[in-house]
Amino acid sequence: MKHFARVTTLAAALLSASLITGTAHAQLAPAAQPAAAATAPAEARKANIVIIGTGGTIAGAGASATNTAAYQSAVVPVDKIIASVPEISKVANVKGEQIFQIGSESFNNERLLKLAKRVSELLKQPDVDGIVITHGTDTIEETAYFLNLTLKSDKPVVVVGSMRPGTALGADGALNLYDAVLVASNPASKGKGTLAVLNDEIHTGRDVTKSNTFKTETFRSPFGPLGYVVEGRTLFYRLPARPHTLQTQWDIDKIDKLPEVAVVYAYGNANPAAVEAAVKSGAKAIIYAATGNGSVGDYMVEPLKAARAKGVHIVRASRTGSGVVVRNAEQPDDKYDWIVTDDQLPQKARILMALALTQTNDTKALQQVFWKY
Ligand code: DGL
Repeated sequence: MKHFARVTTLAAALLSASLITGTAHAQLAPAAQPAAAATAPAEARKANIVIIGTGGTIAGAGASATNTAAYQSAVVPVDKIIASVPEISKVANVKGEQIFQIGSESFNNERLLKLAKRVSELLKQPDVDGIVITHGTDTIEETAYFLNLTLKSDKPVVVVGSMRPGTALGADGALNLYDAVLVASNPASKGKGTLAVLNDEIHTGRDVTKSNTFKTETFRSPFGPLGYVVEGRTLFYRLPARPHTLQTQWDIDKIDKLPEVAVVYAYGNANPAAVEAAVKSGAKAIIYAATGNGSVGDYMVEPLKAARAKGVHIVRASRTGSGVVVRNAEQPDDKYDWIVTDDQLPQKARILMALALTQTNDTKALQQVFWKY
């Protein structure tokens, strides 16, 4: 990768200096910002950010401007997306890199590993200050959680998407990308794990989840976002409480394969054949997206116990969308040698369990992983 051009104009210096404090704007009177004045380097430079394109709606295009929810995703190359937001070049030196051009529903373990390994490689380069990943919103929450758990760097990594294609009235991708670059460029974002930016909000990759099929206000974290991006200012109000990146037991550079973990969804009249199919296809664990507090229908208990007897781990999760699953409450987990999630949604539990299984097969150790991360 070519080296980024260093920019040391007065404007860039003022902007970068103000970003260091987590507040932008050079127009702020120095008297009103004494801390900024005290900590700003004499000659600051713009951050060097690599924007990795993976596809999604942020790379989408519709037949007409009124197609806000019906369009083709993953068609616009990342360099073209970057060029469509010239404001970005005022806040950072950016380089685009196209790794995939897919809808994020097409992510699988191989693609996830390829992306994470490339991010890890880039983060090791001294001239890279942060990474932005353009990504479909459908599975941003899985990718962000995976990166949050496996990257060994404190440099900012921001995953961003959009709900409307660039061709639509009220397209949200340009501002989301601009905001993502601002967040990735800001030293205040260092050491906060993988972040997801959308709709003026900054979320932790651990908690973020997509909650609406078409609204621009779709990302939700059960405990609220970590912060906002407004008028070029990156504002943090919370910190992630659970270990991430440098503090975890996984290193993406040492993971070349993820074990198969299946998710089986619970519903009235659920079919035990889904459990049997998961076992037959070689799943090492089943995340059971149970009703309520991880409750399991009487006709499902035996199939799940049979799967466990064949060595497949059973993880009780909840399909409710929030809350913890309490061990030994709805089911005798100790007796059955099952595991419960903490508050991880089934799709996040799948990521965590796959990672955990790369290191241990011990039920107690696996349970601890859910309570820790
Ligand atoms: N299928 C979707 C995806 O790539 C498009 C939705 C979006 O990006 O918002 O995740």
